[in-house]
Amino acid sequence: MQTELDTLAEVARVPGDPSDRPSLIQPSRTTSPRISLSQAAIRTSAPSITNLMRMALENPGIVSLAAGFVDQQTLPVDVASRAVGALMADPVEGRRSLQYGTTIGLPELRERLVGRLEGSQGVSPGTYREAIARTVVTTGSAQLIYLVCEALLDPGDIVLVESPTYFVFLGPVETRGARGIRVPIDEGGLRIDALEDAFTRLQAEGQLDRVKLVYTIPEHANPTGISLAADRRRPLVDLVRRWSATAGRRIFLLEDAAYHGLSYGETEPRSLWSLDPDGETVILARTFSKTFSPGVKIGYGILPKGLVEPILRLKGNHDFGSANLNQQLLERVLATGDYDRHVDDLRRLYGRKRDIFLGALDATMGKFGGDVHWTRPHGGLFVWMTLPEGVDTGFEGAFFANCLKQGVLYVPGEYAFAPEPGPAPRNHMRLSFGVPGEPELIEGARRLSAALETSLSP
Ligand SMILES: Cc1ncc(COP(=O)(O)O)c(C=O)c1O
Repeated sequence: MQTELDTLAEVARVPGDPSDRPSLIQPSRTTSPRISLSQAAIRTSAPSITNLMRMALENPGIVSLAAGFVDQQTLPVDVASRAVGALMADPVEGRRSLQYGTTIGLPELRERLVGRLEGSQGVSPGTYREAIARTVVTTGSAQLIYLVCEALLDPGDIVLVESPTYFVFLGPVETRGARGIRVPIDEGGLRIDALEDAFTRLQAEGQLDRVKLVYTIPEHANPTGISLAADRRRPLVDLVRRWSATAGRRIFLLEDAAYHGLSYGETEPRSLWSLDPDGETVILARTFSKTFSPGVKIGYGILPKGLVEPILRLKGNHDFGSANLNQQLLERVLATGDYDRHVDDLRRLYGRKRDIFLGALDATMGKFGGDVHWTRPHGGLFVWMTLPEGVDTGFEGAFFANCLKQGVLYVPGEYAFAPEPGPAPRNHMRLSFGVPGEPELIEGARRLSAALETSLSP
């Protein structure tokens, strides 16, 4: 699967059949037989934003507001070094860490994760104890998300997704041959009325039995930075449960909480998972990539009972289990409190970057009036900007070319829309304030504004 990181980090990828790729082996005179790819591989399109990284490399001095990475300077080298040192200082522990673990993941870590969830949701210790057996550690939340798609989706099945959504999620949906259908959001996140309408319409079309999954990012979403309003959370879980009952078959709600914890000021509302009374509907996906280190690449899911075994069987085929050393490392930094101290630092740093970036956008883009507007996130790493309808933010459009001339990059918004219904809007962009330094954020906003000015001038 192509993660956002892969997508951005890969500089040159030869499109099409792998047999077309340049080879170091001398070509033989006889043509080698063609590769007959699986339908899944054929369906999977090339990553759409690969060339952003190449452009960044080819244009020194460019300000990249495109990469959704964490700030390189924040990566917790000292904390990680202490934790690995402590693990290796004890030969028994050290060897245990360097051995394979289990497919479901390290028991102490899973227990701790559920305990921390109890703390954050304000319930008494032991309330969620039973969920430890349903907690699966994965290689990033990307793997959990992929496994969920693999376990549930056949060609023609339907996933209802926020519009816009995390564009990488659309990859596994496509690979499975499933249909991604958009459901509008507003400033309070996924619109419950619009989701109800989508279910009603699909029922009228005789398609309800194809709906398998609703996908949402309720905290500081990628790409909008918007969070699902507290008063929509229970209604959302109830709605999905009600339509499950109507369909006579389980429809799951995938809660992708990748930015959970990165909140700047406001307390995060209760998770959808904690509002699912019988634990049958919500799949909670979390990760330590944003709050600790994407290089450690550890995430986890808490799954409804019936999904645990199928997902573990599939995960067994992927990798037997996620990197044991990395799980031990995380368990240690959670136990010592180093992790929580690190997240506190991140919140301060990103909160300040968010303020600087929003201030710079106000100062430079405010002059365009109401046709140009952007989100004001309370957490996460992203701002979503809407330009006048006539401005095409795609790679081929004049605005992107103007931005390149000015020396600033963004992710065109069109990639964040599921294919149905109909063509995606093209006048949005995702701006990330995670990676650039503070002066670059100010300069990036100025360059965007200059590019837009050129695009709008007659
Ligand atoms: C919304 C969202 N979900 C999931 C992921 C996957 O992260 P990881 O696999 O590193 O845990 C990301 C990464 O950018 C993301 O933005």
